[in-house]
Formats: sequence, C-alpha cells, structure tokens
Amino acid sequence: MFETLKPQPADKILMLMQMFRDDPRDNKVDLGVGVYKNAEGVTPVMRAIKAAEHKLWEEQTTKAYTGLAGDPAYADAMINLILGTSVERSKIAAVATPGGTGAVRQAFELIKLANPEARVFVSDPTWPNHISILKYVGIETVMYRYFDAETRAVNFDGMMEDLQQAKKGDVLLLHGCCHNPTGANLNLTEWQAVVELLNERGLIPMIDIAYQGFGDGLEEDAAGVRLVASSVPECLIAASCSKNFGIYRERTGLLMAISQDGGAQAQNQQSLAFLNRQNYSFPPDHGARLVTMILNDDALRADWMKELEDTRLGMLGLRQQLADELQRLTGSDRFGFIAQHRGMFSLLGTTPDLVEKMRLDHGIYMVGDSRLNIAGLNAQTVPILAKAIVEAGV
Ligand code: LMR
Repeated sequence: MFETLKPQPADKILMLMQMFRDDPRDNKVDLGVGVYKNAEGVTPVMRAIKAAEHKLWEEQTTKAYTGLAGDPAYADAMINLILGTSVERSKIAAVATPGGTGAVRQAFELIKLANPEARVFVSDPTWPNHISILKYVGIETVMYRYFDAETRAVNFDGMMEDLQQAKKGDVLLLHGCCHNPTGANLNLTEWQAVVELLNERGLIPMIDIAYQGFGDGLEEDAAGVRLVASSVPECLIAASCSKNFGIYRERTGLLMAISQDGGAQAQNQQSLAFLNRQNYSFPPDHGARLVTMILNDDALRADWMKELEDTRLGMLGLRQQLADELQRLTGSDRFGFIAQHRGMFSLLGTTPDLVEKMRLDHGIYMVGDSRLNIAGLNAQTVPILAKAIVEAGV
C-alpha cells in the first residue's frame, strides 16, 4: 500500500525553518516562521504562563478527560476576550481545538458538512496553509484581490469588485487583524462595507484571528471581528493563542460558530463536538487551562496584558527603525509602508529571486513571497536587513 504514496507539496514556511537550521553562518537572520523573538533572539515563556503553570502543578488533581468541546470555562474566557459583549453568549457555539490551525481545519469541515457546494473566497495572498487545507478537505477556493503591489496597502476596490462573483452561501475568509502574510489591514470603514456586502450577497464570513494584541492593541484588533459577528446572521471565528500567549507548542485554539437565530446554537454546538470526536476526540487541555487561569485572574491577566503590550510596542519600534533606516539609505519614502503595516509580518512585495539573493548574500531568511517576520529582528539586525534590501535592489 505505502508504495502508492507520492511526495506531497512542501510547506514553504516549514521548509525555510529547516534551511535556516542547516545554514552554518553565524550572522544569519531568521525572518521566516511566525514566531515572536525578543531582543536576545529567544521566544520566551510569558511570565503569566509560567506563574499559571506553577499554580496548575500545585492545584491540578486529575488529568481525566474534559469534554469534547474542551472546558466550557475556556470557551467563555476566550469569547469574552475576542468578542467582548458584542454577541450574546447564547448565540455562540464553541469548541477548543489543537491550535489555530485545528480551528481552521474544523471550520472547513463544518462548512463542508453544512454546505458541500460552498466555495471559500480567500485573499490573494493568504496564509498558504489556508489554501492547502481547503484543497485537502475538498473545498473549492476562489482568490480575491487584496494586496496592492504598488502601495503595499489593501486594494479595497479590487477586493470588493472580486467579491461580486460570490454567490449566496459562499464563505468569505477574512483575517481578523495583522493580515498574514501582508501586514496590510482593513480599516473600520472598510470592515463596515464588508459587512454590507456579506449581508447583501448572503455570504458567510469566516474570520481567522491569530494575532490579537499584536497590531493596534487587544481591543482595537478585535474591532472588525466584533462588528462582523454582531451584524451578520451567521459567522465562523477561528482563534489561536499561540502568539498572544506565546504557547505555540501547546496547540491552543478555539472555533466559534455564531447564529443570530438563538435556536440554532444547540445544533451548532453538537456538530462542532461531533467533528472534534471524529478528528481527535478531546482537544488538548494544558494550554487552554493556562489561558483560562490567566484571563480569569486579575493579577495574572494584568501581567499578561503588560507583557503582550511590551511585545507589541517592541515590534512597532522595529518597524519604525527599519522604515527610517531604509529612508536614510535610499533617500526615499518608498519603504514607509513597513511602519504602517501591523502585526508580525510585512510583505516587501519583491520577487522570489531577490529574496533568494538576500538569503545567499546576507543570510537573511524570509518566505519566498517576500514576507518578513518583524519579530525576528532586533536593533542590531535592522541595519543588516536594510542594507541587504538596498543591495539586492528591492
Ligand atoms: C506562520 O505563518 O509563520 C505561522 O502561522 C506558523 C505556521 O504554522 O505557518
């Protein structure tokens, strides 16, 4: 049987991780995978996570199964974090998932279960794994224009024009904040226009929010999600705690299905729990429990918010430093977009050849589409990157 297996397409982000590890150069710079690193190049365990782990070790008396949906207290805490009071709890079905990717996968499974004809519209570009999983699950993907290669901002007119092709029941996949890979985001006026389009055309929004707190702040980053979730009849939200709680390997995510028709909640909840049972049964609990403890404890929550805010401000500072350095070297403002983008990533908007040249000549590792992870930089490596960008002729 196994002789029939064929090589599957390699994930370009994970491939780059391996290439970086294999590169013997001391001065190499990893701007690839979306993992936060501090000025010392370390991905730290956040203080509040350490404290919660300590407490959990002392207090936890059992590792018996939770429920198929995970601990309801985790869902409550996360719903509160993401949606605030914008949607009544009784309208929301939610399950814990293994990471944000688990939530994305389960969302696609739910779409397939509910409407096998639905197509999913994704931004061009989007996180490559969105497209890969959609293909694997067997859902047709349609791309809509999103990134303007000239301005490096959102091509909102192009996006709205392309979405005119969407039919009732199709799904529109949106990034809640900190768009991956571009760093270019919708403003609130644009979110409002998207809401109108969703309602006019009868489309179902699916929002992937993996970087809440990395852009303009915890509340600000959730504003678009809250607007959509409270203004459309149905909505899916896939959330990740990997980045904002720094618990990447604990695989901690949440999937929500929201129906304004309150009567639908029980069926939605049952379907989500069923999908968990089919795919992995009970979701992982450790990370979810830590997140719950932090969000429900005033002191831990305050400390987590402080560390997250410091992280966010650190990334903004690096963006500004890089934009300034490029301004100094080129005498032009054409890299000003780096300071305007938000989140972990910016898409430089250059060719794979020049990305490869920067890797060969300067040991700079960024994804082939020219996505760079701002959080992979520090004050010392910003000038190295700026020089590489200019010397490569970006
Ligand atoms: C990324 O985009 O680099 C992250 O979301 C990590 C991943 O799994 O691809």
